[in-house]
Amino acid sequence: MNGDEDTPRANTPARLREALVDEVAARRSLLGPPLSPRVEAALRTAPRHLFLPGRPLEQAYADMPVVTRTDAEGVPTSSVSQPAMVAAMLDQLRPEPGHRVLEIGSGGYNAALLSELVGPAGSVTTMDIDPDVTARARSALDAAGYDRVEVVLADGEFGLPDRAPFDRIIVTVEAWDIPPAWPGQLARGGRIVTPLRLRGLTRSLALEQDGDHLVSRSDEMCAFVAIQGVGESPVLRIPLYGAEVGLVLEKGPGIDPVSLAGALAAPRVDLHSGVELGPVGPLSGLDLWLACAFPGFCLLTATPWAVGHGLVAPAWAAGTPALAEGGAFAYQGAPEHAGHGPLRAEFVVHGHGPGADDLAARLAGQARVWDRDHRSGPGPVFTVHPAGTPDDRLPGGFVIDKRHTRVVVTWP
Ligand SMILES: C[S@@+](CC[C@H](N)C(=O)[O-])C[C@H]1O[C@@H](n2cnc3c(N)ncnc32)[C@H](O)[C@@H]1O
Repeated sequence: MNGDEDTPRANTPARLREALVDEVAARRSLLGPPLSPRVEAALRTAPRHLFLPGRPLEQAYADMPVVTRTDAEGVPTSSVSQPAMVAAMLDQLRPEPGHRVLEIGSGGYNAALLSELVGPAGSVTTMDIDPDVTARARSALDAAGYDRVEVVLADGEFGLPDRAPFDRIIVTVEAWDIPPAWPGQLARGGRIVTPLRLRGLTRSLALEQDGDHLVSRSDEMCAFVAIQGVGESPVLRIPLYGAEVGLVLEKGPGIDPVSLAGALAAPRVDLHSGVELGPVGPLSGLDLWLACAFPGFCLLTATPWAVGHGLVAPAWAAGTPALAEGGAFAYQGAPEHAGHGPLRAEFVVHGHGPGADDLAARLAGQARVWDRDHRSGPGPVFTVHPAGTPDDRLPGGFVIDKRHTRVVVTWP
């Protein structure tokens, strides 16, 4: 059932859906591995508009996330995810007919796609921590004819032991760690796909069990609302200029929140690294390399007002790669325009506070290491080991310690 029956001729859900899937498929074949035929068929079937009741059809069939819940400060806590990202993660997950799938983070749309992919012999259970979300997902799934999907209200940190094991577990909220329940409830040969936050950057990882640890089979750039409940991430926001400029970092030793809050008033250090970037956007490989190399890696945020008034020169609305240590910080500057010809996007660093010149030099130095050794490589492999695994039993690489796990990022 696809909910198209009563709709007038012009922009029918079916037509808009075809156009959306054509667009998602075309962009995917330009950027990487093409959309798999099975995921494409599911996208062409599931009626996304029925999971966004009351929204214009054009919004339901735009390749955009649609925020459905916000907290008291207006920060999004739930959304119906962006179709292109949903598609990429389903291709990472590879659900097969007959599989038992657990989805953590509901909305209904992705559960409907999963239901198409596992077929009548499989099963889909979707869980969410927010009762409004589970109620909305339940009624939309029923309205769209996916009444076999089970919807459960609970904190995904603990999975669903009563229904385990699962062939596939897909997490559609930004996790900060991999709690033991997820690999513990995975069937032999199973796969977990989860967005994992690593020092402020998030990658969707496809993980499989390999002995006592998990190993990544693929990773994708992604953005999600943050996980709530027991697994909440220990994020610290330090205002540098009221609400206009700030640093978003993970709590930890070596950060002095009080002197950092005053650092922006100190004279600015500017440093050219000599590393040329692509014409637009932060390079996924470089920002991840910097996040691995520096425990104090963080993101600088700034409003258009702050940029317009020259307080800072950040380039990326979602947060500019930065490094904080003691009472100083340094960050990646905006691309410069030479006045004619193409945008010259050099990795330039700015810094403020005591020792900012040293921080800026180290940030620029690691950008040069990435440029020389890893820029054209295949990208990193992620392994996830139980917390308490001694250093000498970990593979070589950068170690990022979490509550339950030690994540090792290995760059070939
Ligand atoms: C991006 S939305 C999920 C989108 C959805 N999968 C879809 O079909 O579009 C993320 C959801 O994760 C939920 N969430 C946050 N923390 C959670 C937790 N600890 N356990 C389960 N759900 C959680 C939020 O309430 C929110 O509804």
